[in-house]
Amino acid sequence: MMNRFPKVNFIGNKEKISSWIANHIPTDVNSIFDAFSGGGSVSYHAKALGLKVISNDILEINHMLSKALIENNNEVLSDEDIDTIFEGTPTKGFMYKHYSNVYFFPEECKELDLYRENIKKLSSDNKKALAFILIRRAMVRKMPYSRFTINWEKIIQLRDEDYSYLKYKRKRAYHNDSFKAHFLSNLPAYNNAVFDNGQDNISIKGDIFDVATTVHADLIYLDPPYTGTMNNYFGFYGVIDEYINSKKIEPFQNNFVDKSTSIDLFDKLFSKLQNFKYWMLSYNNSSYPTKEQLIEIIGKYSRNIQVIEKPHVYKITGKEKKKTNTEYLFLIKNDSYEASSKTGRY
Ligand SMILES: C[S@@+](CC[C@H](N)C(=O)[O-])C[C@H]1O[C@@H](n2cnc3c(N)ncnc32)[C@H](O)[C@@H]1O
Repeated sequence: MMNRFPKVNFIGNKEKISSWIANHIPTDVNSIFDAFSGGGSVSYHAKALGLKVISNDILEINHMLSKALIENNNEVLSDEDIDTIFEGTPTKGFMYKHYSNVYFFPEECKELDLYRENIKKLSSDNKKALAFILIRRAMVRKMPYSRFTINWEKIIQLRDEDYSYLKYKRKRAYHNDSFKAHFLSNLPAYNNAVFDNGQDNISIKGDIFDVATTVHADLIYLDPPYTGTMNNYFGFYGVIDEYINSKKIEPFQNNFVDKSTSIDLFDKLFSKLQNFKYWMLSYNNSSYPTKEQLIEIIGKYSRNIQVIEKPHVYKITGKEKKKTNTEYLFLIKNDSYEASSKTGRY
């Protein structure tokens, strides 16, 4: 079941350790709220285990990832849909105007502008989400270092296959493959990833500080951006939200980027989790606050805190080196949870 999760390529994803996380879900849990769902790897694993999953993220493209792969139980893209997405002639639109020679060449921006308008013609929101996450995969694949925090000079340098080969012994030809080629090569895996686990799963797009009290589930899983690490998610992917909506968007707040506000943000977050019997938090030893500081903050709300540790090897894209961290999983039983006090929209 697990091998069906497609290649999403999401910075900070928990794909490699999703089994380890899932193994610590208490046995009396039937529903899980993945509050910072990102690329959706934990939600997907939980869905495969048969749990009811509610996924949330503040970025629209991450909401679409969970809409297409978690909430969606059976809709896939047909040959007809593919014809619709790629029909017509590239046009000058939002991407051409704002991001030519910023992230992509002008002709490529025109293709993106055409595909967006075509995707809007698809017959359902699930199909649109599936199409947009395939375009996302193509955009990320064409971007050196797979994120939108690289300047144009560096982009064209790294998209120069001869230069890349001389300097790094890798041509990185995939940066120059077309959006359509990437889309089509990933299509079977994305279509195959859609499945029904017999539950009514839900995908939400919201700031967790607004939505936490509106959701009800047995367990909330928290995988926030790790403060003090490379964690500027709006910078990494915000342009995809702009592309989908054809408008400039202000970076979101409550982003865990700033060290001076991180402790207060965690405190505020834990004060809003009364709807959940269990809380699970992922963090690591090279981020801020420290494990001890987190235990102190959480200790205001619960006396029942367990921290499970695991060495986690990860690769920093671009730096081509591997680092080892200790990954923490906080498992907390909410002392003041009352099963009878079910409130909320979901
Ligand atoms: C570490 S990533 C989650 C990775 C995910 N577990 C996975 O496996 O792909 C953190 C996510 O939190 C989201 N985020 C940041 N601030 C948020 C907020 N205030 N409310 C909701 N989501 C937020 C970011 O957009 C990002 O997708």
